[in-house]
Amino acid sequence: MINSFAEDVQQGLSAPQKFLKSKYFYDDNGSRIFQEIMAMPEYYLTDAEFEILSLQSKQIYEALNFDRPFNIVELGPGDGFKTFKLLEYLVNAGKEFFYVPIDISQEAIDALTKRLKEKLPDLNIKPQVGDYFEELKKNIVSQYPSLLLLLGGNIGNYPKDRAMELLGLFNEHMKLQDKLLVGFDLKKNPLVIKNAYDDPHGITKRFNLNLLLRINRELEADFKIDDFDFYCHYDPMSGEVRSYLVSLRNQSVKIGVLDRVFDFGYGEVIWTELSKKYDFEEIGELADCTYFKLLNNFLDCKHYFTDTLWEK
Ligand code: AVJ
Repeated sequence: MINSFAEDVQQGLSAPQKFLKSKYFYDDNGSRIFQEIMAMPEYYLTDAEFEILSLQSKQIYEALNFDRPFNIVELGPGDGFKTFKLLEYLVNAGKEFFYVPIDISQEAIDALTKRLKEKLPDLNIKPQVGDYFEELKKNIVSQYPSLLLLLGGNIGNYPKDRAMELLGLFNEHMKLQDKLLVGFDLKKNPLVIKNAYDDPHGITKRFNLNLLLRINRELEADFKIDDFDFYCHYDPMSGEVRSYLVSLRNQSVKIGVLDRVFDFGYGEVIWTELSKKYDFEEIGELADCTYFKLLNNFLDCKHYFTDTLWEK
């Protein structure tokens, strides 16, 4: 097979219940649309976590209880806008540490490094491009204690069992007393959650439709995006937001790179994303099951979001 994107699209669109993986949202266009999502007033997650790191970086640092220089290893930093507040506090307080952002996108890492060097010239930054776990293997042998960061609620894209697997793998790549700070979006008034995804501006719809445009461009397909709609819903019992693309008529789509035609029925859905919301009980369970000790929950004032600090 040509590449993993093509392979995953082939697999997802051949399944009885069609799906596409949400990690493919983030091509250059998709990353730009995601910036628009983060700027919407309805998308409270970004503001909530920004507030936490703006107001509680000192408390977070103190809870780390590190007595020597340390590493901050960030998995998938994105535009690094939220993390900036934590880094800024630490640099200004004269703490000695290395910031190691890890991303698969060279472009994202270059942009982040350039901006941080301008805004925080005293920051020691060692950017890494590559696979999380390949890079994390280096953490094990580092002589310094580490804080791992998984922010933004990215963990919500994994079903609970996969989240457990991922956090368990992190644990295996950490040293005793290393810390992990994970952002979880919390269960709350369902209407608040619904409005963050089913947004009135149609930005999240564009974000989803962009995935079809990406397939058209990169895999030589002929999706007509006017013939697809967007639907999402929140289930307060499971805490799951599920997002879908909906075929508005019976249609066939050719994907050139796969040399295959896929049929979509009238009203048929393609599942594109899971965004899971947690309560404290579930967060505690996750920590227990993956051999972490939960030290602290750092919340925003509305209690919409938590950055939870765990110790190996
Ligand atoms: C980047 C995974 C945290 O699930 O809230 C935003 C992505 N999708 N709106 C989320 C997203 C639709 C976002 N995460």
